[in-house]
Amino acid sequence: AIDPNFEDNREVAEEHEGHQVWGPVEEPETLGIHGTHVAVDFDICLGDGACIDDCPVDVFEWVDTPGHPESELKADPANEDQCIDCMICVDVCPVDAIDVDAG
Ligand code: SF4
Ligand code: F3S
Ligand code: ZN
Repeated sequence: AIDPNFEDNREVAEEHEGHQVWGPVEEPETLGIHGTHVAVDFDICLGDGACIDDCPVDVFEWVDTPGHPESELKADPANEDQCIDCMICVDVCPVDAIDVDAG
């Protein structure tokens, strides 16, 4: 599962589509955690898609991650600033790849 304390345990490695990426990042095998308020551990995500289907405000967008050992598609929190903290994505992800900091 995603580390809920990733902000203490990791450092920002880069930016992607306006959100932070928490490292380590070593493409293509290691991709880090994308987003901060809505955080997706790309190294755990296996491209299930439930979060994309169920988020009521379309926070997530697919991104291609060719060569990643878990899956070659990830749910990117491209619109994390629109999140309404419903926690549906956290509940539906089969591998607990998502952390939402509802404060
Ligand atoms: Fe979407 Fe709700 Fe998850 Fe926020 S908590 S990203 S609104 S499903
Ligand atoms: Fe990935 Fe979980 Fe969404 S596996 S695509 S973060 S439901
Ligand atoms: Zn991203």
